[in-house]
Amino acid sequence: MLVNAVSALMGALLMAGAVQAQEPDAAAQNRAWGKCKACHATDANASRNEGPTLFGIIGAPAGIVADFKSFSPAMKNSGVVWSEEALDKFIAKPHTFMPGNTMPFSGMPREADRKAVIAYLKSHNGLKK
Ligand code: HEC
Repeated sequence: MLVNAVSALMGALLMAGAVQAQEPDAAAQNRAWGKCKACHATDANASRNEGPTLFGIIGAPAGIVADFKSFSPAMKNSGVVWSEEALDKFIAKPHTFMPGNTMPFSGMPREADRKAVIAYLKSHNGLKK
């Protein structure tokens, strides 16, 4: 019995390790973020003219960043909260996910790239890694 419990525990630990290994690495994250960083920063109060800062974006309501003045009505009134799922759908096809938004970006078709961007945002927004 004890042996079974130990081997079950070992299996669980191995699986946890495997899941962690699937997290996109820093190089993949930086590469994917390269598609966004011309317009977006990730520091607090660091919006550019081109786009709002994405500091703290995960879990935040859309369109509320105070130092960005040019949100579209579509973004401001969307009622979207940026869960990881919502971000994934938005980044994949911004204008299908949220018609009328004015982000000049047509989308990121590869799921691996979107995962990498979201991992980047998670580790650059003041949340624990
Ligand atoms: C050419 C500039 C540009 C690029 C490139 C760009 N964005 Fe944006 N982004 C914007 C603008 C402008 C808005 C505001 C759109 C609106 O209000 O309708 C925005 C809005 C957003 C929002 C909503 C922010 C909020 O506060 O609700 C997220 C999330 C976002 N972008 C993520 C990304 C990601 C991730 C990438 C890269 C895959 C990216 N953007 C690429 C300009 C850009």
